[in-house]
Amino acid sequence: MKEGIDGVMKLKRLSTLLLFLTLFLAGCGKPYLSTLQPAGEVAKTQFNLLLISTSIMVFVIIVVVIIYTTVLIRFRRKKGAEDKIPEQVEGSHKLEIIWTVIPILLILGLSVPTLIETFKLGNVEAMEKVDKEGNREALVVNVRANLYWWEFEYPDLGIITSQDLVVPTDEKVYFHLKASDVKHSFWVPATGGKLDTNTDNVNKFYLVFDEDKANKAGNIFYGKCAELCGPSHAYMDFKVKAVPRDEFDKWISAMQKAEEAKPTTDLAKTGQQLFEENNCLSCHAISPNDTRPETARTAPNLADFGNRTRVAGILENTDENIKAWIQNPEKFKPGNLMYKEANFTDEELDALTEYLQSLKVQ
Ligand code: CUA
Repeated sequence: MKEGIDGVMKLKRLSTLLLFLTLFLAGCGKPYLSTLQPAGEVAKTQFNLLLISTSIMVFVIIVVVIIYTTVLIRFRRKKGAEDKIPEQVEGSHKLEIIWTVIPILLILGLSVPTLIETFKLGNVEAMEKVDKEGNREALVVNVRANLYWWEFEYPDLGIITSQDLVVPTDEKVYFHLKASDVKHSFWVPATGGKLDTNTDNVNKFYLVFDEDKANKAGNIFYGKCAELCGPSHAYMDFKVKAVPRDEFDKWISAMQKAEEAKPTTDLAKTGQQLFEENNCLSCHAISPNDTRPETARTAPNLADFGNRTRVAGILENTDENIKAWIQNPEKFKPGNLMYKEANFTDEELDALTEYLQSLKVQ
């Protein structure tokens, strides 16, 4: 009876594990998110390193299993030869050399390409290069991670955005990474490995966003925080909009020329008034040309809010979700620094939402 129950339990556990694995692995094939579908030079290099190391490891496992099985079968005690002792090989020079040299070769096979590529991917000298006029040649984005939102500053272009990072495809984009509160980690899985954003030092690296792969992903890659940073770590998402260079240039000039949005409807005007009366502006900026120092920029820049695909990085950008977020941010992102709960009336929420949706740069 007990064995029967044990059997059922085992089966249950196994099916739960399989179900979990199915759900887990189902996330592996999305072109906007998957490291297994590398979408740029950096991700491809890292993927190839993964292939090399996995192949070497699988090769070792196969060889060991073959030797193990052979030995088990060949040298087991046989009927009629119970006292037979196989040939003793202790101290055999030939064998000692073989099992020393093979692992050395395997380790070289693992380490040489890894080292070469690591140094290549870590080369950020181009970030410092300037032309005759003293302008930086490479595109640099300053990433600042905060509890639970991302700021993207284009220091040479005088633009600041939040939550949606916009980049040109098929060229190296250099990142300058830091955090303003606790340790976070900047990760765009489809285009390269993660890199920590720290409070006490700056990390630098570059990524390339492949144009064809970007097209396949609808020009949006998903970005994540990859360092446990607090109760809403799992919701600390951002989006990367990867567009061809000419489109990127258009976006830049629109952002540079952007003037403060002027609400056109009465409802939006009421919303703007509420936004100002409730001190939202003391943290959020509504212009991409925010000149305040970063210590004053304590909440996401909302300049292009109306064009964002997500509210707070996680909710679909719909009027209903904006209202739900404004009324109770704590419900969606526990521990966020906006406020716990607000008491806006339905009319006030309508007005604020209309105003926020009108914040569009182009
Ligand atoms: Cu920020 Cu996890």
